[in-house]
Amino acid sequence: MRDLKDPHDLTVQDFRSTVHSFEFWFEAVEGYLHGRPYGVTPHSVEADFSDHQRDALITTLCNYCVGETAALEASSGMIAFAPDLNAKIFLSTQVVDEGRHLEVLMHRMAMLGVVDQEAEIKSRANRSLVQFKDRLLEFVDLRDWEAAVFAQNVILECLEFTVFQHHATVADAITAQMLRGIVSDERRHMGFGENDLGRRLLAAPHTHDRLARIKRELDTLVISAFAEAMRQIEIDPENQPDLAGHYLAAVARLGFRP
Ligand SMILES: [Fe+2]
Ligand SMILES: [Fe+2]
Repeated sequence: MRDLKDPHDLTVQDFRSTVHSFEFWFEAVEGYLHGRPYGVTPHSVEADFSDHQRDALITTLCNYCVGETAALEASSGMIAFAPDLNAKIFLSTQVVDEGRHLEVLMHRMAMLGVVDQEAEIKSRANRSLVQFKDRLLEFVDLRDWEAAVFAQNVILECLEFTVFQHHATVADAITAQMLRGIVSDERRHMGFGENDLGRRLLAAPHTHDRLARIKRELDTLVISAFAEAMRQIEIDPENQPDLAGHYLAAVARLGFRP
């Protein structure tokens, strides 16, 4: 397996020949998918959940599924209007990643006894997250590349990366293992968004103001979805991951001031 450096550390040339490449994608994911059906080592031992813990985990997984479905639908739709062929190739890898994320999350729900995952997701979905998804898909319907990449590959990916990474440190062993595999992909998706928009902002500085407006609009939904996720995982405010810090760091790399 080729070692995947942090996408933020790559030069533009290296970035294009790695993150944009299907060939590289396959080698990168093979390392953490091989021998782990549904993202988990076979015969892993299930934790001894109380009814309350199981129910809270199912709600959390349902909301992760909303985010993954948003990314799956958006990234597949974006292929049609991506500005160049390399971006289309990258998005094809993201579509596969998001489809896999959705599948492993639904499989985890089945392991926890959920029979009809779709119905469960609908009934437990967080309203802010659903609103975020609707807004993202509007950008896709409008074929608005900058807004769609920003909302999906910077904002949504940053939220997912932060929540999944933190949840993996406190979750039961099976959920933690599955989340670590997902986080490796989300890091790649964030890197693409920042690289694409970074170059675009340099070339057309007026897009900065547009994206700042979109950021302000989506901030409320992101913060509300994050607070709800932390409540479900039962993380005290003083032990919560620094979403604001990660988020501000991601947008600061694009040249936004807080
Ligand atoms: Fe994902
Ligand atoms: Fe993603």
